[in-house]
Amino acid sequence: MSVLDANFQEGGFTIPSQGLYPFQWKWDSGFIAIGLSYYNIDKAKLEVKTLLDAQWENGFIPHIVFHNDNDSYFPGADFHKSELHPLSSKRYKSTGMTQPPVMGFVLMEMYRIAKDKENMLSFIKEHIDKVYQNHEYFYSNRDPHDEGLVYIYHNWESGTDNSPVWDDIWLTMNPPEYAFERKDTTHVDAAQRPSKREYDHYLHIIEIAKEHQYDDAKIAELSPFLVQDPLFNAMLIKSNTALIELYELIGDCEAKQETIRHWQKKSIEGFNDKLFDADLGAYVHYDLRNKKPIRHISSSSFSPLFAGIPSQDRAEILVQTMLDKFGGSDKYLCASFDPESERFDARKYWRGPVWINMNWMLYYGLKSYNFKDVAERIKNDSVELIERDGFFEYFDCRKENGEISRTGYGGNNFSWSAALLIDLLHN
Ligand code: GLC
Repeated sequence: MSVLDANFQEGGFTIPSQGLYPFQWKWDSGFIAIGLSYYNIDKAKLEVKTLLDAQWENGFIPHIVFHNDNDSYFPGADFHKSELHPLSSKRYKSTGMTQPPVMGFVLMEMYRIAKDKENMLSFIKEHIDKVYQNHEYFYSNRDPHDEGLVYIYHNWESGTDNSPVWDDIWLTMNPPEYAFERKDTTHVDAAQRPSKREYDHYLHIIEIAKEHQYDDAKIAELSPFLVQDPLFNAMLIKSNTALIELYELIGDCEAKQETIRHWQKKSIEGFNDKLFDADLGAYVHYDLRNKKPIRHISSSSFSPLFAGIPSQDRAEILVQTMLDKFGGSDKYLCASFDPESERFDARKYWRGPVWINMNWMLYYGLKSYNFKDVAERIKNDSVELIERDGFFEYFDCRKENGEISRTGYGGNNFSWSAALLIDLLHN
């Protein structure tokens, strides 16, 4: 609670971590609202409201909302220039990219946690249409072949920013060398962060989108990065389920429920048909630009468990893959990338470390398919890592990593690690 309270800002939102991340991030806010719901329901509501206030007129919700002029972050508002898009928020500057659609299931979690259900339902009633419109935006603009699978056009949209999965795409690009001053490496050891050359790729994709005023159709046509991400689509599906249930509680919303059911059916079928790799025994990303699967196993490969996407048989295959590759007795669950891969790096940002938000999703997913022991293990591992290493952003998955005074990595006093620990300890 003290971590969350210290990261709370005057504008009515919580930063992920001081120094490294000084603004409001979309999926962080969702996880934070879940933790806040246990002890300060008003703040939890405010967190959600502030994020939804920054929604664009086309339903889009940006990945960062720049509430202030803090210049300790690159690339900031002046680089992203969300005002280029004709329907962007007139009130808030933001990025022109998004992040996983967590808000549907976050509202459901808030309802589950709230003691005064009636009061929470009236809050949900006031805000749920914005989440619906956000999903409508995705299905209308991000699914060019009508497959029920939406694309992301930037690695920062995935939430798993520096995953080795993207390396395959960087190989298809040759961006210019940009001159810029990074801020992340003044807060965190550069060895744990992406390289300068990787940043050139990140900036180049944004430059292309900006040249076309962040127009979705142009991005679909031209972006060198266009990926159907299992984690992103699983979050959308999980949130669809939540929206259907919440509209049911609200009542009189048949038409919207019908539309969501239609999206949902297509999404789950498309997901299972296209993203499951039987040889790997896991779901994988699909590179829509270069028309091929990206065949690596990451923690995103298991996230469909959280959204009820696999059949029980397929879920068993997934869990077996997780235990075989990620689950040795010398390791904490769940590394963010295949520990057997040569691209695995135990301390580098999304290239191997354990992240608490992924563990949180996997815990609930495993439980829902009745893998009680693995679920317990992932929960206990999460608690132990935080107790052992601190409230960090990410953690080494190796139980013994040769360090005498072991710590976590990335930002310290990291909000979603704290918020989701509160939830895990309540369950
Ligand atoms: C990093 C993570 C991203 C997160 C952000 C703020 O960029 O990769 O998922 O939202 O930090 O915490």
